[in-house]
Amino acid sequence: MSEKRKPGGRQSRRAFIAGATVVAVASVANGADAPTHRQASGVKVGEVTDTTAVVWARLTASATRNTDGTKIVGKGAKEDAPLTDAEVHKLHCACPGAAGRVRVRYGSKPDLTDAKATAWVDVTEKTDFTHQFALTGLPADSVVHYAVDTTDPKQTPHGSLTGSFRTAVKPDAEAEVAFAVVTCQMYADLDHADGFHIYNAIRELAPRFVAFTGDNVYYDNERPRAVTPALARYHWERMYSLPRHAELLRTFATYWEKDDHDTLKDDSWTGQKMGDLTFEEGQRIFRQQVPMGETIYRTFRWGKFLQVWFTDGRDFRSPNSMKDGPEKTIWGKEQKAWLFRTLKESDAAWKVLVTPTPMVGPDRANKGDNHANKSFQTEGDEARAFFKKHVPNNAFTVCGDRHWQYHSVHPESGLNEFSIGGASDAHAGGTPGENKDYHKFHRVKGGFLSVTARAKSIVFRHHDVNGKVVYAYEAKSV
Ligand SMILES: [Fe+2]
Repeated sequence: MSEKRKPGGRQSRRAFIAGATVVAVASVANGADAPTHRQASGVKVGEVTDTTAVVWARLTASATRNTDGTKIVGKGAKEDAPLTDAEVHKLHCACPGAAGRVRVRYGSKPDLTDAKATAWVDVTEKTDFTHQFALTGLPADSVVHYAVDTTDPKQTPHGSLTGSFRTAVKPDAEAEVAFAVVTCQMYADLDHADGFHIYNAIRELAPRFVAFTGDNVYYDNERPRAVTPALARYHWERMYSLPRHAELLRTFATYWEKDDHDTLKDDSWTGQKMGDLTFEEGQRIFRQQVPMGETIYRTFRWGKFLQVWFTDGRDFRSPNSMKDGPEKTIWGKEQKAWLFRTLKESDAAWKVLVTPTPMVGPDRANKGDNHANKSFQTEGDEARAFFKKHVPNNAFTVCGDRHWQYHSVHPESGLNEFSIGGASDAHAGGTPGENKDYHKFHRVKGGFLSVTARAKSIVFRHHDVNGKVVYAYEAKSV
């Protein structure tokens, strides 16, 4: 398997590197909308290394999401009339699951004539009809083509869902690597009926992978409020069955983080509850809905020039209401020790920490959920001092959660942080305002971020929702 991705119909990499304006195009799914498959909630490929990947699959009752049923869309934390699980499965855009069997075939050829196949796996309601296949022995820096096959419980086959993704380059390979980062996707703030504009724009850029920092769905402050596990899963079904979203996830490697709204509710922590949905159930549902290995905090090497870190800010967090001090933490002792150790050990030219919440900010004074807030200042100061002392010139943070785009430089530590901004213009807002002591760039609009790492430089680009570069910052090796 040695084929390199040639993104037919996509903007060339050269154009991407030049930061050219990108025009969003309508998604034309190549097999994604085949009427015979039973995978309305799509497929997700994640945790990609130079030899492995995790393929997430889910068997559904139909090939497409519900096109009829009650529509419940809108902002706000008000609870709707209680819905039984059966009623949730009938909502507009629900993708009810179905029992049966699932497997993955994968190989280097688009027609899969050289494919290996995993064993068939039974899927049931117990796992929300999902399974995550760990693929091993993949060739580095190569396009892997795959088909997810399903059958009903009597082993009658359905049509297959096909796709592809690209594996990571070997740690010692000298490859330029570009990736895109997305945050804060509120369904009520969609800017197109087929999905966010940013999905088409990212496909046009053809990055090596796409990272999601969390708030991948909003359980609590848009309708229907996810007060049961079935409603929480409905949010995932509705968001990732959108044609543009399903098409991107079918054809790109991804990494997933969670934040407050896709665990339980705004600024949430362990032990809390929203209706019948507990924080602990929210943690389980997240790991069920995205491809994930054993460990929720992890790091991936993409060649000589780039290493990325993905941290978790919910599982190990102290209550936000706790008084700040040395014991108060967002990361927890083990994750923090791992993060500091691996950052120090890494010999990558460039190190990027993709963090669900900010570490530099500045943020609103009344917030108390992240390392840029007073409420977690002790750990925030410790982390920023660590960056300054141990990785002063080649480590950066990319943060989600905040609904405005910025490039900030921390006045004391010099840490550079890039905030992605919400997924659409309608979702933008909330900034305390531009602050010249921090900001090199500040924009209250939606979009996404891309990062390009090379031997001697790394470039961070803020894009608007259509992919146009609105700000670029290049750091050069010293
Ligand atoms: Fe958000």
